[in-house]
Amino acid sequence: MVSPATPRSAPVLPSIDLLTWLHSAPQLMQRDPDFFLTARARCGDIYLLRGGASPMVMLGHPRHAQEILVEKGANYTKDSPIWDPLRSLLGNGLLVSGGSYWLRQRRMMQPQFHRQALAGMSALMSEAIAEELESWDRAAAEGRELTATEGFNALTMKVIVKTLFGGSIDQHEIAAVGNDMKFVLDFILQGILAKSLPSWVPLPGRQRYADTLRRLDDILFRIIRRSRDALASGKVSANLLSLLLNVSDEETRETMNDQQLRDEALTLFLAGYETTAAALAWAYQFMFDRPDVAQKLHAEVDAVLGQRTPTIADVSSLPYTKMILQEALRLRPPSFWTPRVALADDEIDGYPIKAGTTVAPITYVIHQHPEIWEHPERFDPERFLPERSQNRHRAAWIPFALGQHQCIGKEYAMLEGQLVLANLAQRYRIEAGQGRAARATLSATIRMEGGRRLKLTRRR
Ligand code: HEM
Repeated sequence: MVSPATPRSAPVLPSIDLLTWLHSAPQLMQRDPDFFLTARARCGDIYLLRGGASPMVMLGHPRHAQEILVEKGANYTKDSPIWDPLRSLLGNGLLVSGGSYWLRQRRMMQPQFHRQALAGMSALMSEAIAEELESWDRAAAEGRELTATEGFNALTMKVIVKTLFGGSIDQHEIAAVGNDMKFVLDFILQGILAKSLPSWVPLPGRQRYADTLRRLDDILFRIIRRSRDALASGKVSANLLSLLLNVSDEETRETMNDQQLRDEALTLFLAGYETTAAALAWAYQFMFDRPDVAQKLHAEVDAVLGQRTPTIADVSSLPYTKMILQEALRLRPPSFWTPRVALADDEIDGYPIKAGTTVAPITYVIHQHPEIWEHPERFDPERFLPERSQNRHRAAWIPFALGQHQCIGKEYAMLEGQLVLANLAQRYRIEAGQGRAARATLSATIRMEGGRRLKLTRRR
């Protein structure tokens, strides 16, 4: 007699409970991203993380990133409460908007980040780098060491403010806008507002936040009006704001209003400056332990550029410079994950995923997957040589994510990173100064704690 078939029960995901792990995982207490590597070693490439606001399915293999961000991208949305604190500041900016509004904005903005537009912008980038390096020159002359985070944050802040508004803003406004933007974003990211306390509860810094935001909005709207007037009188500028003022929706022919321009400008600033600064700061921390890498960088820059200031036309001739950046972004991806929410029920690796579940490909883990990367913990820029990258999974290196929400500033960031590295290598020998070894910590992004200072010696 044949026995009736028993219904196959769904496999159960391995899980980690943060509350029990808090005691046993010092990495977690220290917000060390290696916590994710330990969790993968214990549970495998897919597991459930419990103990936060709601359980999350954590994913650690490139095939997961490909599946969630690309193949099933329509079922996995960014519409998650994780972004709520940022929405209060960025309004409907590209990073936090969704649905048809996001699609319209993305379509209008995408061409402004293509190579041709970047070529126009790169002159502003180089100008900003040259201006900021005057203060690096002074530090070199005085024998003063720079902290990596401050040095690169100031540099990339100057670059983003100049490329956003350059030509439409004076030196005084550049400093004011940069500092105010940094303050309001830090305030939000620290999650002080995220605690969802009613707005009448006094919080330290809240009044300063409100005042700064008001002042910042005043300046931003003034710059937007000024740029509109300049455009109307036929003055053309290659800055991002002017490009965005000019674009219109293909179907409706509508252009962006002042509020939309303000939201997008603030978004580009947020998304673009600390991330790039972090990649550069880490690149130097890694190079301090690998003088051979710094030597090859100097050799390439000297051979290709000599004394000539690098431009966008040079970056394709600086492959080693690019590989240093790629490797720093592999080991310390500033954006360490790409959480998404399932719209409909699904299955990943045979495990059922209910609609409404948050799933998160962990870039940090994918970038060190032992099936893909040989000695994943080693800083080895040459792993990005074409002959060593040929058969690699296409979602193995995803610092800029993948799919429809892939970073719009990817080419911009790589261009800026290469220009900065080339300029620095040309001007200085940079050695490790005082300070303890850098430690990565989890915040809204992966941040650097500590870190050896930059000791600059002028090369010419
Ligand atoms: C090394 C530097 C950078 C890294 C590592 C980085 C990383 C990322 C990642 C991972 C995302 C996707 C987030 C998600 O979907 O969950 C993203 C989105 C975005 N990035 Fe970047 N980014 C960098 C630089 C920039 C720059 C320079 C800009 C602009 C000037 C920029 C603008 C944006 C915007 C607007 C989005 C939202 C795109 C959308 O949803 O349509 N980023 N970035």
